[in-house]
Amino acid sequence: MLGCGTVGSQVVRLMHEHADDLAARASARLELVGIAVRDTAAERAPWVPRELLTDDAEALVRSADVVVELIGGIGPVRHLVLAALDGGASVVTGNKALLAAHGPEVHGAAKRSGADLYYEAAVAGAVPVVYGLRESLAGDNVNAVLGIVNGTTNYILDEMATKGLSFEEALAEAQELGYAEADPTADVDGHDAAAKAAILASLAFHTRVGIEDVPVTGIRDVTAEDMAEAREAGMVIKLLAVARRVTDNGTRGISVRVHPALVPATHPLAAVHGAFNAVLVEAEAAGRLMFYGQGAGGAPTASAVLGDLVAAASHKVHGGNAPRESTYAALPLLDPEHT
Ligand code: NDP
Ligand code: HSE
Repeated sequence: MLGCGTVGSQVVRLMHEHADDLAARASARLELVGIAVRDTAAERAPWVPRELLTDDAEALVRSADVVVELIGGIGPVRHLVLAALDGGASVVTGNKALLAAHGPEVHGAAKRSGADLYYEAAVAGAVPVVYGLRESLAGDNVNAVLGIVNGTTNYILDEMATKGLSFEEALAEAQELGYAEADPTADVDGHDAAAKAAILASLAFHTRVGIEDVPVTGIRDVTAEDMAEAREAGMVIKLLAVARRVTDNGTRGISVRVHPALVPATHPLAAVHGAFNAVLVEAEAAGRLMFYGQGAGGAPTASAVLGDLVAAASHKVHGGNAPRESTYAALPLLDPEHT
């Protein structure tokens, strides 16, 4: 394991508490061989085995069959993940920032070495929307994916609207609850949602969308007055990620963006409270689907990580590979103003 913070420490707890069940489901005992952290002397949850802590992440990635990356960000992590994949280890990660900025490099490394890459936790915490788009909808044509994919900003907007908290108070609560990124500006300014929108759009439209392709406006400028006006008009304000197939002057492409939006109070997305996420998918044959659940927080995110970990271990035992992204479609990104 790389990282033992909000999510990592919950993965360690659940691996310990459910060791027998996980072994049965993976057809292999999952042995935690090391936990790389920044500060090995720092206080940890009582269930974290201190003897496994190390600050030598590089050595750890060379000695494991499966590397669970829960450090976050790009910095040293990019190199560690590439080293793990190059060495043939399966990688399980919740790191949307890395995937949205360096997706082709990371997926390319996995493909080259035949290693597996799993990232259910990177989008919408516990909600299995990566699996849903990549597997369940693999036979359908997705026309739109949109929704609330950042728990911190949804929590802030909700607390401001319902309890009259200030922006700063609500953000401090979201940080305390373990929802926010290490640098919460990634949440507040919409970059975390933009990274997730890029990943969702790549999966939904079988193309490659990077974070640099996603125009983004965060929630920093949303005021209490905006909220009051929205309420009077029968609306709520939500930070939405929106990815759609569009046609502009006869050219077929896609539009992907993140911005605060007025949502009618009767719309299903208006009922998404706290750090919950919801992703609406519109597909040609399936029609409308809604994926809903806890989008942030230690235990919910650990659930997604453990699901990937069981799949990774099971593939190691029984053979076969994790499903790979199919990015065969070259779709131009069209001007969001036209959509
Ligand atoms: P935290 O900040 O709580 O934990 C980060 C961990 O990484 C800490 O244990 C830290 O060590 C360790 N770390 C930091 N830098 C290094 C380094 N250079 N070498 C080794 N270890 C390092 O993050 P979260 O658990 O909240 O998030 C982890 C990942 O999961 C991120 O990618 C995040 O985006 C993603 N994620 C988070 C969710 C959430 O709700 N929190 C939900 C979905 C995804 P130390 O403990 O010593 O400081
Ligand atoms: N900071 C992220 C959020 C964590 O608030 O949604 C989950 O990806």
